[in-house]
Amino acid sequence: MTDKTEQDRVLIFDTTLRDGEQSPGATMTHAEKLEIAALLDEMGVDIIEAGFPIASEGDFEAVKAIAQQSQNAVICGLARAQLPDIDRCWEAVRHAKRPRIHTFIGTSPLHRAIPNLSQDEMAERIHQTVTHARNLCDNVQWSPMDATRTEHDYLCRVVEIAIKAGATTINIPDTVGYTAPRESADLIRMLKERVPGADDIVFATHCHNDLGMATANALAAVEAGARQIECTINGLGERAGNTALEEVVMALKVRNDIMPFQTGVDTTKIIHISRRVAAVSGFPVQFNKAIVGKNAFAHESGIHQDGMLKNAETFEIMRPSDIGLKETNLVMGKHSGRAALRAKLKDLGYDLADNQLKDVFVRFKALADRKKEVYDDDLIALMRDTASDPDGDRIRVKFLRVICGTEAPQSADLTLTIDGEDHQVTATGDGPVDAAFNAVKKLVPHNARLQLYQVHAVTEGTDAQATVSVRMEEEGRIVTGQSADTDTVVASAKAYVHALNRLLVRREKAGTDGKEVSYKVVS
Ligand code: KIV
Ligand code: ZN
Repeated sequence: MTDKTEQDRVLIFDTTLRDGEQSPGATMTHAEKLEIAALLDEMGVDIIEAGFPIASEGDFEAVKAIAQQSQNAVICGLARAQLPDIDRCWEAVRHAKRPRIHTFIGTSPLHRAIPNLSQDEMAERIHQTVTHARNLCDNVQWSPMDATRTEHDYLCRVVEIAIKAGATTINIPDTVGYTAPRESADLIRMLKERVPGADDIVFATHCHNDLGMATANALAAVEAGARQIECTINGLGERAGNTALEEVVMALKVRNDIMPFQTGVDTTKIIHISRRVAAVSGFPVQFNKAIVGKNAFAHESGIHQDGMLKNAETFEIMRPSDIGLKETNLVMGKHSGRAALRAKLKDLGYDLADNQLKDVFVRFKALADRKKEVYDDDLIALMRDTASDPDGDRIRVKFLRVICGTEAPQSADLTLTIDGEDHQVTATGDGPVDAAFNAVKKLVPHNARLQLYQVHAVTEGTDAQATVSVRMEEEGRIVTGQSADTDTVVASAKAYVHALNRLLVRREKAGTDGKEVSYKVVS
């Protein structure tokens, strides 16, 4: 096996905040994007694709702020092959210590047909736009979108043009998740063999998971010579998502014997960032997801447990601590003190200031009163709920009582505090959650459409907390809300109100376009 210090470095390019956030419904707030970018930077990701600056004022501001706060990572913005896009991208990323412009155009026959460009016209556009980007920034990445369905001769031709125009990284996207591992490797090998100047640049691989092969395709590309993997936390991304960062990084670590490459990622930060991305995007991680799923390290069957007790290596190819999971799920209860809570939260990745701890402690005690044993997952849900209920929220659930029975309709008595004033209402519905939502809607009328309503039990047992995610859409604005409570209906109402608070912020930001800027209260 090659000495680790001599092994080739594979750059990790994280696009959670661009390709991941592009996934319908995964919209993050400005503050959440900054938080995730800081965590990525801290965990040792080499390049952070922070957004698509021309897409909206919000995207521009987020990329700019991430560029300003970045400490180590290269900060990259995406731009179409158009000069105004590239200028706008540069405006945002130029604030970074190490900026990068990433420009792209669809090169496959299907994608060439969209702008109706001939092969020659597109080649000219690539030359012009990459040259322009390189005149602004020393670090330029170029992508032939849908590369895996582009004719090989044409792909070689345009990659050569981009290199000659100054691209320093050439990214090969499998935009529709169509390729297979051998083909992914052959494509990189072919480009490295046929394109003049290929040895002077870095080849990147960008895979989508439509056929469940994104991780395998990315690793195959690396074995063939790619030295940058584009990926997202939890594999977040449009449709079936992108290559999952945690999967490629851990595969390179665990199977370093046959894939002798190094990354700069501190893998012990993986679980915390995975949980944060799941929380802020509203996309929960499937239980059996590789590396970060709730069951990824659970050994339930008798045979497994017996083997694990004798020697953990019997069934475990990596340790929970490798990704930052603590070996013990130390139970907390109503007698646990503030210091124990602080230590436990620190272990879980939450380093709280005294005033924050004070607030969380009150909520922890309330939870411990209702629930005998408070597990790690309960505390994570509580932290998520605390984060989703900042003092800035204009609407809060003060009181909720629902009358249930076998006969519909159910009815809900609700008091909301809106801008500091209490408003009370009663509403009925088809089931307790419907009744509670109707009550909220009576007090805060709106036309937002509920796109998703999801409930998860945090732990086992009938006293388990429920975490609820709600996604709503109004005039193209998509917002998510989350909450946790031992009472599913209360968690639902709070998640709904959380989403509404976010909608109000979005409406206010869009207020200058003459549309409704604030909500109407009916009491
Ligand atoms: O999937 C894709 O082709 C992309 C490009 C913009 C790189 O995300
Ligand atoms: Zn993509």
